[in-house]
Amino acid sequence: MPSRGRIPVFPGFGAGCERSGGAAQRNNSDSTVLVIDLRAMRVKPLIDDIARRFAAAELVYGHGTDNPLDEAAWLVYAVAGIDHSADPAEAYARAVDPRALAEIERLAEARVTQRIPLAYLLREAWFAGRRFFVDERVLIPRSPFAELIEDRFAPWLPREPQRILDLGTGSGCIAIALAEVFPSADVDAVDVSADALAVAAVNVARYELGERLTLIESDLFSGLEAQRYDLVASNPPYVDQSDMESLTVEFRHEPSLGLAAGDDGLSCVDRILKDASRFLADDGILVCEVGNSRPALEAKYPHAPFVWLEFEHGGQGVFLIDRAGLDAGLTS
Ligand SMILES: C[S@@+](CC[C@H](N)C(=O)[O-])C[C@H]1O[C@@H](n2cnc3c(N)ncnc32)[C@H](O)[C@@H]1O
Repeated sequence: MPSRGRIPVFPGFGAGCERSGGAAQRNNSDSTVLVIDLRAMRVKPLIDDIARRFAAAELVYGHGTDNPLDEAAWLVYAVAGIDHSADPAEAYARAVDPRALAEIERLAEARVTQRIPLAYLLREAWFAGRRFFVDERVLIPRSPFAELIEDRFAPWLPREPQRILDLGTGSGCIAIALAEVFPSADVDAVDVSADALAVAAVNVARYELGERLTLIESDLFSGLEAQRYDLVASNPPYVDQSDMESLTVEFRHEPSLGLAAGDDGLSCVDRILKDASRFLADDGILVCEVGNSRPALEAKYPHAPFVWLEFEHGGQGVFLIDRAGLDAGLTS
């Protein structure tokens, strides 16, 4: 990135900076150094400037935001340490200090040139109103499960769940949010990836849930002791081969273990459906995301009484089925 002056600055610098001290030319014996006072670079014009660069670069979104302006605002707020609940007018008028400005520039550059999702660059993702540590070992949280959890699965749970299982926990976001909204529940969170569980452990510690939330390395149900859960939640890998082949660069930064699920996208879901009944309480429910693999699932299990959930804030491809439905619907 070209730098004007001693500190790297954005190309659109002039638009966002009130040069309180002004730009001054200082003569060093044989060269001229442009010294720019960055103290008065304001949040709002900086966001607008980065958003313009993101739009021009035609980035792909879907890892926490869906447009360049929100993505730029997330970057600036995170690095400048601005709380999301701050009054926008007051926050936008704040000055960004030179050190934060340099870091914002570095990350914006990586976002544009390497197409790294911003969540990985910032080491943070937001899910169900909570902040999670993430890195390249886990999928970036974005599941519509967040809305179900915030609504406490109303009206689908017959009673407050006491035993909950999250299959394919990744960063632990679903398990942790569930443990928080159901404070009397014990939660087991399973992943086959030891790397993912290491990330989940950071988040479990951050939310101080170690007493009630157990991380388990297991291939789906295979490593679990026999027990009955009131709620089994899963956002397993469900991307079919054809969609895997057309993933954009941003999505290729994520672990394929969190995405790829065979030719039809159902390699994990088939196994979950086969075994879930043995791990559900009599009135327990399985809630599972299959995204774009919904048509393949419905074609494969035409008699299964899947209830397809609807979302106010976007998202689709999440079904619910109870134990009786699993027992009857998968065999007929
Ligand atoms: C789509 S990601 C979901 C992560 C997290 N629950 C979320 O919503 O952001 C699927 C997760 O399932 C894990 N996974 C893949 N195959 C698995 C298996 N056979 N058993 C357990 N976990 C598995 C992956 O490692 C990944 O963390």
